[in-house]
Amino acid sequence: MDIQAPLGTEDILPEQAALWQKAEATVRDLFARYGYGEIRTPIFESTRLFVRSIGESTDIVEKEMYTLGKGDDSLTLRPEATAPVVRSYLEHNLHKTKAFQKLYYVGPMFRHERPQAGRKRQFHQIGVEALGASDPLLDAEVIALACHLFDELGLSGYRVRLNAIGTPQSRSGYRELIQGELSRQAEKLCPDCRRRIERNVFRVLDCKQAGCIAISRQLPSILGHLPEPERQHFARVGEALRAANVPFEEDPYLVRGFDYYTATVFEIAHGALGAQDALCGGGRYDNLVADLGGPSLGAVGFAIGIERLLMALQAASQPIAPKPLDLYIVTMGDAARRAAFQHLNFLRRNGLAADTDYEGRGLKAQMRTANKLGARFVTVLGDNELASGVLKLKNMATGSEEEVANIQAMLQKIREHAGESAGGIELNT
Ligand code: HAM
Repeated sequence: MDIQAPLGTEDILPEQAALWQKAEATVRDLFARYGYGEIRTPIFESTRLFVRSIGESTDIVEKEMYTLGKGDDSLTLRPEATAPVVRSYLEHNLHKTKAFQKLYYVGPMFRHERPQAGRKRQFHQIGVEALGASDPLLDAEVIALACHLFDELGLSGYRVRLNAIGTPQSRSGYRELIQGELSRQAEKLCPDCRRRIERNVFRVLDCKQAGCIAISRQLPSILGHLPEPERQHFARVGEALRAANVPFEEDPYLVRGFDYYTATVFEIAHGALGAQDALCGGGRYDNLVADLGGPSLGAVGFAIGIERLLMALQAASQPIAPKPLDLYIVTMGDAARRAAFQHLNFLRRNGLAADTDYEGRGLKAQMRTANKLGARFVTVLGDNELASGVLKLKNMATGSEEEVANIQAMLQKIREHAGESAGGIELNT
């Protein structure tokens, strides 16, 4: 076939989906323990929402949005979910009924970027947004939560980088300072960065070109140029992270590609990921609720890229084993296949993972499949079993076989082996 999935998108086939399910189940369990409730917002939003929140001169708004229509009717596939979550928070008046909200989301995002390993046009994020508070402990909580998730999934080797970037007002002095410094060396910067000096000078700090890095690393650190209360906030976040045993590094050159951030920003990277090494990015955005028409309320959050998270887990070779089958029914002949179909229906409705052959293959091939699927038990259905009703249950781990009088007895035996007491369990028929 000459039609393929669009560039930068990916099909997730069952084997891979098992990893996704494991990650998502861990997220739902862990985030609930931290008091976060799930929010689901539309996949597309008014374009104005992203322009207003992410910022007109950011890469995302300038060139990466999938947008349909023009003017006030223009819609955009969401490139991120922070702005949609704040939009929903205000639209449903949560700021009036219960201003402090801890929300999380899992879902696809869309950015028209040049695809490469770890960079997709449709990708998925797990994110949290804690809205309605300015406590630095909350900044530390969301960072600790991201790290806890990685730990729970068995991922080691990630690194947390932390910085504070202030508000547009509080960083204006620093902005002018580095604009002056960079203008003096403009001819050594890449063409993009030369443009950025006026439009969005902080993006120069994020450029990956060696020449630009060499120059930006000689600039003074922003921390020394922030007002005292903001420096204190940053110090408190660090203190809380140390108290929670979350290792981190201060990185005075860390900036993020969104205009909505104020105060704390952070990224978590993993060495196994190559050029696109950010697993997670986030920070505090204390002006966004007000910028979108709400009251002045603090907020902080992060998002983790699921594709990158799974790449890091796989690179660290921590495969997640699929759930094994309880029983595989090997059939010999048409009558046995029909009987197996009925047995499977009964067993599955009673909670077992059970399967059979639908390809009409021979006994040996079916046994190989049972092995491949990791079946704990196998039963062979042939003319004898159909005539007598008695079934043989083979334990694949020990090789031992036992006879059971009928399918109900088989269910009970398998449950007993699983450590459950068969007594008193109701059967669904
Ligand atoms: P972000 O840094 O743009 O932040 O994205 C967060 C994570 O999403 C990245 O660290 C990366 O793992 C993943 N990601 C981003 N772009 C791609 C892509 N093209 N392909 C694959 N993965 C990607 C945000 O989106 C903010 N909304 C985070 C936030 C929430 N800040 C506060 N609250």
